[in-house]
Amino acid sequence: MKILVVGKGGREHAIITALQESPSAPELYAFPGSDAIFRLARPTPATDLPSLIDFLVAEGIDLCVAGEESYLVTGEGLANACARVGIPCWGPPREAAQLEASKEFAKEFMVRHGIPTGGYAAVESIEAARVAIAGKYPTVLKFDGLAAGKGVAVCPDEASAEAFLDEVLVQRKFGPGRLLVEEFLQGPEISIFVSVVDADYQILAPARDYKRIFEGDEGPNTGGMGAVSSLEMFETEGAGLREWIDRAVVRPTVEGLQRDGLPYRGFLYFGLMLTADGPKMLEYNCRFGDPEAEAVLPMITGDFAQYVFEGARGNLQSDLIGFRPGWSICVVSASAGYPASARSGDTIRGLDAVENARVFHAGTRLNAAGDFETAGGRVLVVAASGATRAEAVANVYRECDKIAFDGMQRRRDIGTRNF
Ligand code: AMP
Ligand code: GLY
Repeated sequence: MKILVVGKGGREHAIITALQESPSAPELYAFPGSDAIFRLARPTPATDLPSLIDFLVAEGIDLCVAGEESYLVTGEGLANACARVGIPCWGPPREAAQLEASKEFAKEFMVRHGIPTGGYAAVESIEAARVAIAGKYPTVLKFDGLAAGKGVAVCPDEASAEAFLDEVLVQRKFGPGRLLVEEFLQGPEISIFVSVVDADYQILAPARDYKRIFEGDEGPNTGGMGAVSSLEMFETEGAGLREWIDRAVVRPTVEGLQRDGLPYRGFLYFGLMLTADGPKMLEYNCRFGDPEAEAVLPMITGDFAQYVFEGARGNLQSDLIGFRPGWSICVVSASAGYPASARSGDTIRGLDAVENARVFHAGTRLNAAGDFETAGGRVLVVAASGATRAEAVANVYRECDKIAFDGMQRRRDIGTRNF
């Protein structure tokens, strides 16, 4: 079996590792990939979606796995193009991927299908935004389009809201597009991952992402500075949580996709906030989370490659995989300047000293001397497990402390408490 994974970050490194360790032992390819990923998977000569599809056909690839979202909604759409040439794809067609690409589409979908979420208004002008905010702070403002994770502002007061409105609706920093004014919700967040195959679905292990750059969950939002995952979170986060989320959110979503005529095969990520009024949806993503994948996927048992291959062909075979008991934690090491900027070219020391943990490369490259150096904001992600959460914390920090590079930023409180 030949499998190609689309993406180049730590999530794709974790997906490729899980595929490589599968008993069905697939041959692996990656696009665009990275130097670290190319130690496990072959590169391609492709430069864009059309040339990638040509490669899939010419090479006889059996399955395409969408790690990241952008190609799902680029041009024809990755899954749409795969369907045209008869190659199974794990990742939805562009029509369903609007759940991630358009926040307004997602909100309308949730309202239409009775899925709990905060109130909102979609506006086009600064005047309409002020009317919708109605002097109530904090308020949540979201640009309705892909904005590389920078399109959301939780504004504590009028001054911060006016500044964001100016950037989005006057300066058009993210280009044309509407703005959502959302009800401010409070509570711990949880990421739920579901394998969706048309009308069937399977809920996987949950995770929590630590989004802010500094310890104590302070400072600006990032792509994620670490994550914790365990099946036990379905109990520790609230008794009966799994059943509640299934009944109120996951099942209505899968039924809604069917009712709206939106076929979906792939991972669907539910970003939820556990509020005093019960869990509420913040967002959908049409892919696995990053860095959540680096914590969740090392816990998978069974044949992940066969599971995804069967799923992409329309057969959800839930018993092909399982999850190890205990806790898994991953910690991100980010470069100097992140998240505002990212310094590249710092040599990474200590990679060979790591034992009993996995190192997933998010933003690295090989330098002329053959050593890995930084090449991006999030540089690498170390993941380790333990029977208890405390044991997993001790194990992951013992190993990631062996790695260093100049300007490195790393939170020390991943997995130690909830935020
Ligand atoms: P999103 O990209 O929509 O998930 O938003 C990014 C982050 O902003 C979320 O993970 C939350 O931490 C925060 N956020 C989003 N929507 C809300 C909301 N309605 N109330 C409070 N915080 C929010
Ligand atoms: N960790 C958040 C995301 O993948 O969107």
